[in-house]
Amino acid sequence: MIEFRGVDKRYPDGTVAVDHLDLVVDAGKVTIFVGPSGCGKTTSLRMINRMVEPTRGTVLVDGRDVMEQDPAQLRRGIGYVIQQAGLFPHRTILDNVATVPLLLGWNKKQARKRAAELMELVGLTPEMSGRYPTQLSGGQQQRVGVARALAADPPVLLMDEPFSAVDPVVRENLQDELLRLQSELGKTIVFVTHDIDEAIKLGDKVAVFRVGGRLAQYDQPGALLARPADDFVDGFVGRDRGYRGLGFRSADGLPIGELQTVTLGSPASAARDAIGDGWALVLDSEKHPQGWLRGTELPSGDEPIAAERLVAGGSLYDTDSDSLRGALDAALSSPSGLGVAVDGSGAVVGSVSADDVLDKLKAARADEDAA
Ligand SMILES: Nc1ncnc2c1ncn2[C@@H]1O[C@H](COP(=O)(O)OP(=O)(O)OP(=O)(O)O)[C@@H](O)[C@H]1O
Ligand SMILES: [Mg+2]
Repeated sequence: MIEFRGVDKRYPDGTVAVDHLDLVVDAGKVTIFVGPSGCGKTTSLRMINRMVEPTRGTVLVDGRDVMEQDPAQLRRGIGYVIQQAGLFPHRTILDNVATVPLLLGWNKKQARKRAAELMELVGLTPEMSGRYPTQLSGGQQQRVGVARALAADPPVLLMDEPFSAVDPVVRENLQDELLRLQSELGKTIVFVTHDIDEAIKLGDKVAVFRVGGRLAQYDQPGALLARPADDFVDGFVGRDRGYRGLGFRSADGLPIGELQTVTLGSPASAARDAIGDGWALVLDSEKHPQGWLRGTELPSGDEPIAAERLVAGGSLYDTDSDSLRGALDAALSSPSGLGVAVDGSGAVVGSVSADDVLDKLKAARADEDAA
């Protein structure tokens, strides 16, 4: 879909921004360009829509050299989103989104209808359509930027640090929204960031650049964490990469153990023998976990087990969707040392242990080595 073949970019002052880039961007997937400041991410991105022209080599979009295409026509098929959205300050939100359809010659009514649909798609409410960009939060403005880039339904979307100007919580929401949107739309997305965590979360594939515009590694996120190509990539993917890499490992077949449970409000006497001095997980009537109770903390006699005596639990391991990372975190964060496994509805199905997670990891590695 998009291919760089031996591409260099040298600016007139002699700066080499991109040095011999060979890279194939998969159609319908999210490809991330990540790396430190000045490593040529933006330059590489802009060579795709010809905002920057290569000094040497070829950039192909859909098999055709971009230098042989009319720039305006090329860009019609390529949406572009930048940091701080780049909205027109004196146009309403609706008109900002309708800009591209109008440029494409749609009539005003069609263009506004399309704009309203796109606003809904990116999670903006109709009340916002008449406002001006400064009357929206940073995160909302970014959504408008995404809606505008999608307006002509381009097969390709280029995004240059689109979420870096918003606070971490909003940023996470925007990332989740992008993944949801992408699962519906299946665009070819090239996304620039200098945040490796964002790269790992969003990318189907991640290209790590080093300063001087050289590609250091191009791989799936799990492979990047498991096998950095060199010290630079190792340093860049950062601390805890072993732990974070567990997020890409399936927990299918992880043993689910037994778990001592008691029901909130039930009489202490019924639990005493079963718990002894150990831990029990306290459930409500729908088997949702409420907290942990230590045998030594059981009320006397037949008093009911009350919420006040419970110790807060750790994270839950969702057997329907979580990776080994989720399972290990559940075990490590549980006061009893046993992680709580739940099904998709949040009902407890049993326990997971850190030892079992590590055994599973060991087995998976042995399989990989054998292969
Ligand atoms: N128009 C230009 N003229 C000269 N040098 C430029 C020009 N644009 C970018 N550069 C230089 O090219 C190199 C790569 O710049 P680029 O903007 O592609 O980096 P980047 O990876 O996007 O960095 P950042 O993370 O800071 O956005 C830098 O050294 C930059 O100073
Ligand atoms: Mg940049």
